[in-house]
Amino acid sequence: MIRNPLKDKERISQAMTQPLTIALSKGRILDDTLPLLAEAGIHPAEDIKKSRKLIFDTNHEHIKLVVIRATDVPTYVEYGAADLGVAGKDVLMEYSSSNLCEPLDLNIATCRLMTAALKNAELPVGRLKVATKFVNVAKRYFAEQGRQVDIIKLYGGMELAPIMGLADLIVDIVDTGSTLKANGLEALDLIAPISSRLVASRASMKVKHSQIQPIIDQMAAAVERQRNA
Ligand code: ATP
Ligand code: PRP
Repeated sequence: MIRNPLKDKERISQAMTQPLTIALSKGRILDDTLPLLAEAGIHPAEDIKKSRKLIFDTNHEHIKLVVIRATDVPTYVEYGAADLGVAGKDVLMEYSSSNLCEPLDLNIATCRLMTAALKNAELPVGRLKVATKFVNVAKRYFAEQGRQVDIIKLYGGMELAPIMGLADLIVDIVDTGSTLKANGLEALDLIAPISSRLVASRASMKVKHSQIQPIIDQMAAAVERQRNA
């Protein structure tokens, strides 16, 4: 299908009356989000990746983009500081708020949230020590499994914890598996397949529905086109 950016802009702009802010996760998700936004007819006024600014105008007078840490996106959206956000399902599972909804799976930054341990490790039958930055997800997962665990919060480099004897298991993101392999670990159980989602608060979905829905529709069409490309 031949794109008509002007039409996209018109469709989104027609619905605009109040300012609308979209919170983007910086880092690897941003690289995949910007082309999707562009396909949906939303273009930052300057090159986000070359700027130290955190807030950006776009080609739509009423739409602003803020670029923040992935883990802060649900907070900005839940409290209404941003109307829409883009965040990984892992981050959304960890944040876990019933005030948020996920109107669209963007099918980007796909990976898996898994348990992993040292290759061929014999895990204790009793209480397990689990290192992760996904503390809430891990608590829920092992409770469902009926396993007693001590969760140890880390902020990165989880693969080191079993090597150093800090933990028996980790809960972490696995994509190619090369980080696990390079550190002598193996993936064990899948907790959840992960991709980035468009996230909104239930409140703003109601109050700003006429503004938000055209953006969701345009992004959904862009995701579909990428899927079929
Ligand atoms: P922060 O900087 O806030 O600590 P982070 O380091 O997890 O966050 P990124 O590494 O940019 O930030 O990851 C952002 C998101 O990308 C994750 O929440 C996850 O959904 C996805 N992700 C993380 N690692 C990978 C990977 N190796 N491959 C694909 N997607 C990934
Ligand atoms: C993420 C994740 C794993 C790695 C998995 O780390 O935490 O360590 O990617 O990817 P792979 O299976 O393709 O090797 P990241 O690079 O974000 O660093 P972090 O440890 O700071 O989270």
